[in-house]
Amino acid sequence: MKIALVGYGKMGKAIEQIALSRGHEIVSIIDINNPQDFKSDAFKSADVAIEFTTPATAYDNYMKCFAAGVPVVSGTTGWLEHLDEIKRMCKEEGKTFFYASNFSVGVNIFFAVNKYLARIMNNFPSYDVRMTEVHHVHKLDAPSGTAITLAEGILENIDRKERWTLETAEKPTDLPIHAIREGEVPGIHEIVYESDADTISIKHEAKSRAGFALGAVIAAEFTAGKKGFLGMDDLFHF
Ligand SMILES: NC(=O)c1ccc[n+]([C@@H]2O[C@H](COP(=O)([O-])OP(=O)(O)OC[C@H]3O[C@@H](n4cnc5c(N)ncnc54)[C@H](O)[C@@H]3O)[C@@H](O)[C@H]2O)c1
Repeated sequence: MKIALVGYGKMGKAIEQIALSRGHEIVSIIDINNPQDFKSDAFKSADVAIEFTTPATAYDNYMKCFAAGVPVVSGTTGWLEHLDEIKRMCKEEGKTFFYASNFSVGVNIFFAVNKYLARIMNNFPSYDVRMTEVHHVHKLDAPSGTAITLAEGILENIDRKERWTLETAEKPTDLPIHAIREGEVPGIHEIVYESDADTISIKHEAKSRAGFALGAVIAAEFTAGKKGFLGMDDLFHF
């Protein structure tokens, strides 16, 4: 498969290694200094572009990929105000876009366990729920996209919670997310249910970026040749 990389930072470089090891060809690499390459024949020849840049630049890059007729797999977080527009373009204009706030297989198992636990805890109002996420100091957005997906899994299933809030709960119906930025931590997410009697917690800790990169390449293999808006639920059926 021919892959274009948009964003050649920590994730772009990790994805390049895994893609090459799985027998794919990298036909174009675009970073901040060569946006003109979106119009190159090499870029247009890609079966899929894998985009990992920044919250502020992602949407513009998606539009450039779409204009070149190249399907997009993106893991950039912090741009979700444009999500409805991207979904509309996939539905009405035949574009192809795969998004995951977290491409790690382990995290996607964790998402499923989180929803299952939340369904159980809906029947036990003596437990309050909170979340903590820890990432490296270079991360631009807070809470993490993964934390938001976990929060949505809880809010969908626990009737006594209405919205997530960053740091402090203003009302009992809030789900607080404590975001910590320290060192070079690739990503830790923990959900804690606490009653007067005991504490139940589930935790996922990434050891490196390799899990995210492998998931992104598997998603790219899945996306090539498909149409529409795709996500991890299409890839894995837990
Ligand atoms: N979904 C996931 O599984 C997952 C996993 C890890 C990171 N992320 C997210 O991916 C994004 C990138 O993470 P990273 O660790 O690689 O960051 P990074 O800072 O190491 O790399 C970002 C790269 O994007 C480049 N860039 C900036 N503006 C650009 C533009 N307009 N066009 C092209 N390239 C541009 C930068 O020069 C840099 O090389 C972040 O939003 C992060 O939160 C998602």
